[in-house]
Amino acid sequence: MRAVDWSDVQGLVLRGYPETPRAAYLPLHIEDAAAARAWLAELTRPERLTRSTLRGEAERRADRETPGGRCNIAFTWQGLRALGLADEALSTFPWYFREGMATPARARILGDTGDSAPENWAWGAAAEGENAIHVLLLLFAASCDGLNELIDDEMRACAGACRRTCEPIRARAPDDGREHFGFRDGISQPVIADTPQARRISVLDGPTGTVKAGEFVLGYINEHGQRPESPSVARDPEAASGLPLTDDLPEVRSDLGFNGSYLVVRQLEQDVAGFWTYINDSVRAERGGTDRQAEDALAAKFVGRWPSGAPLATTPHADDSGRSRQNSFGFHAEDRHGYRCPLGAHIRRANPRDSLLDDPAEAARLANRHRMLRRGRIYGPPIASIETRGQPDGQKRGLIFVCVAANIERQFEFVQQTWLNSTKFGGLHDEKDPLLGDQPADGGVLTVPGTPVRRRLTGIPRFVTMRGGGYFFLPGIKALRYLAAL
Ligand code: HEM
Repeated sequence: MRAVDWSDVQGLVLRGYPETPRAAYLPLHIEDAAAARAWLAELTRPERLTRSTLRGEAERRADRETPGGRCNIAFTWQGLRALGLADEALSTFPWYFREGMATPARARILGDTGDSAPENWAWGAAAEGENAIHVLLLLFAASCDGLNELIDDEMRACAGACRRTCEPIRARAPDDGREHFGFRDGISQPVIADTPQARRISVLDGPTGTVKAGEFVLGYINEHGQRPESPSVARDPEAASGLPLTDDLPEVRSDLGFNGSYLVVRQLEQDVAGFWTYINDSVRAERGGTDRQAEDALAAKFVGRWPSGAPLATTPHADDSGRSRQNSFGFHAEDRHGYRCPLGAHIRRANPRDSLLDDPAEAARLANRHRMLRRGRIYGPPIASIETRGQPDGQKRGLIFVCVAANIERQFEFVQQTWLNSTKFGGLHDEKDPLLGDQPADGGVLTVPGTPVRRRLTGIPRFVTMRGGGYFFLPGIKALRYLAAL
């Protein structure tokens, strides 16, 4: 089996850049194709574009001590067309990518309805015209000043080639690792097979194990034992494109997707006050008064982890910060009926691990066909204090959800539609993800199994609203050079 050539893969695939907590996403529109190609040629220089490397401890320490800027680049299908990619090559991209995230059919699949419908998005809804996004530049820096400098540098560098379609979308890694509802995030990530991380932790990773690189990088074997569908270009024997040939297709072509991947980006606004008001009211209705511990415990049932990150499946009774990063657990042996972590909790829906079939090994194998590398960051101000978390403060805050996957349809869309937003999941029949589901008008339901009786929470409002986003292709470095030389 071919080993991944990580030096040809953009850095975001392998790492979320924790050493550079400040991020900006710049949606750009190509105005001059030739100038854009010249800009891209410059950008692919090693000192400008961040690549993936399998880092040892020394490199990681150097990163932490002197983090420079990080830069990656991704394209929409319309962007590749604007850059001058031939129709015959454009037609080899999968349908979902050509259509984009904002079509009516996709909006239905993804639950982007009502307030979350594309017509209400701040960015990303237009596929054509002057607001269509062609390029997404992803910039990361250690400080706000560093990030502003990077944005200015890159905007100067692409002047005349591209223009911004909106203000940079700024986000950050939270200081305490917690997203705005107050729960530690970014704990559970797929461990890619044949990386140093896989060698270190695969024995301890419990039933989920490692996931084949082809789930995240085009050109390699995936969890189906196949190479993922990859875009290609007609082979031109005269032009040394640097792209490898592909023999998966009837005619020999050059593999434009090799070492590339896809990115899903979604700006998800969180109604923090609404979430905690619902939790606090439910606790008050049961106990007749406020009780911080009971509120945290009920909210943890929505998430599947405690605020510290400790999983309910292994830590059922009280939060335990000593287990905040624990990820070596399944649901089959520990908690088959959801007495600890409800069947409908967010993490159990987003990754059911070994629980959806009677045979846990087979269940885990199937669940691993729907994993994604999450690279999101939060935006907007933190809430003022835990004591006032149920009071609206008029501020906009949320998550810039970013995920990397080799097949958006089988990974992101499947999880969003069939696991998070479906009323039928794992034996449940009238519930959706309680944290971010597109709940019905009269509110959603969460069943919390318990003895002597289960609790059934009803009237759950929608706490997360979609504000903008898109599907992007994140080419490998050789593919970027090919595009720059079109
Ligand atoms: C505002 C929206 C969201 C919030 C606040 C949120 C919050 C969280 C939290 C607190 C965790 C637990 C920490 C961890 O395991 O890393 C988590 C896990 C996860 N979330 Fe979300 N999430 C959001 C949206 C999404 C979306 C849109 C998806 C996918 C379509 C998703 C997929 C996942 C996955 C795959 C996991 C890891 C599950 C596991 O492997 O155990 N999340 N999320």
